[in-house]
Amino acid sequence: MANKRVNNGLVSGFSKKSKQEKIKWISQTCFANPQLAKNILETYWHTDEKLQRLHDEFIENAVSNFYLPIAVAPNFVINEKDYVLPMVTEESSVVAASANAAKFWSTRGGFHAEIIGTEKTGQVHFLFSGSHQKLTVFFNTVKSKLLKETEGITKNMRKRGGGIVDIELIDSKKNLKDYYQLQVLFETADAMGANFINSCLEQLAKTLQDQAANYAPFSESEKQIEVVMSILSNYTPGSRVKAWVSCPISELGENGNILAKKIIQAVNIAHHNPYRAVTHNKGIMNGIDALAIATGNDFRAIEAGVHAYAAQDGQYRGLSKALIKNKTFWFELEVPLAVGTVGGLTKLHPLVKWSHELLQNPNAEELMQIFAVSGLAQNFAALRSLVTTGIQKGHMKMHLLNILNQLGATDSEKIAMVDYFKKNVVSFNAVEQELEAWRKT
Ligand code: MEV
Repeated sequence: MANKRVNNGLVSGFSKKSKQEKIKWISQTCFANPQLAKNILETYWHTDEKLQRLHDEFIENAVSNFYLPIAVAPNFVINEKDYVLPMVTEESSVVAASANAAKFWSTRGGFHAEIIGTEKTGQVHFLFSGSHQKLTVFFNTVKSKLLKETEGITKNMRKRGGGIVDIELIDSKKNLKDYYQLQVLFETADAMGANFINSCLEQLAKTLQDQAANYAPFSESEKQIEVVMSILSNYTPGSRVKAWVSCPISELGENGNILAKKIIQAVNIAHHNPYRAVTHNKGIMNGIDALAIATGNDFRAIEAGVHAYAAQDGQYRGLSKALIKNKTFWFELEVPLAVGTVGGLTKLHPLVKWSHELLQNPNAEELMQIFAVSGLAQNFAALRSLVTTGIQKGHMKMHLLNILNQLGATDSEKIAMVDYFKKNVVSFNAVEQELEAWRKT
């Protein structure tokens, strides 16, 4: 049965309304208590008008700000350098997990990371109905022209060491009728490069069509190359980074041997079982996304690319590896990442700028390494909890303040409850009951 449509009233020209008009319309049309709805939006406005306008102009139809906490995780030692990581997340235990893992590994040689590649891919998807051989000859003939006509766009990037690395013609007719691609490889220096890549691709598509239209050996129908779309790929296996930690098992703690073996089992399970692998990788992304948001990077692009990589052999698998060799524990993560330290929000959003400075203004390669380490640290912390105490102990401890806030606890009640639950198991019911009992005393 079709759902009954709720008629809130359609609106035309919404984007052209002023911010106040938008808030008025939305509050009156969609909320039971329009004044309350309006107040909530206004409470989250910034009093500094210039700063508020900056945020308003990031996106269309902005009506307020959405706050998430930004936190720091200190004590990260990465390639012998100390870092404090900025993290934006709503999940209570993530920062504590990072800080714990960072501290743990800081006295065991720290984290290590290396870049495996930084190449990104873009595609012009097009349809060509005609002789494959003629298209190949045409492509080889016009390849230098294709590159030449992007020179205006690539000029600055080339000065920074980036640009178009290569263009390949890919025949995908076996998948879709008449379907070909120009597969283009890019280096984008310290930029994530989405705008740069897309601008190049659109120019390449145009040149491709123009050249085909005037290519004498083509028949009239072959001259009509149909471009479907030109867009970068967020799958970036050519832009990859590896992070690892290792130490003698004896240094892992009292039951180091058991811990190492259990972590290896957990990693093996994630390798074989997709249900577990998704959660395993979600934990890794807790570390990567929090850093991505803090540094103004596109976490949706990163997520999409990482998960595709996790399924590269046809089965979704855990991304980390663990082993014991010569009584040494080794734990490693390899992920595809496209991140930027210039462009986008990096110089615009004051907290993003702040985060980059906190990280000592890394270049894109250094930032990729920090991202991978952040993912590895989360994964280590999660697995260590899962195979020892269980995850809920730490999770619920961190969630305690959320529960207390939900129950309207005062500051003194919070102090008493945090103290009580140092030695007792946290659950919503347990906190509710204990708070009630405390209030009666
Ligand atoms: C929770 O956000 C993340 C974990 O579920 C990750 C994992 O299970 O490995 C704890």
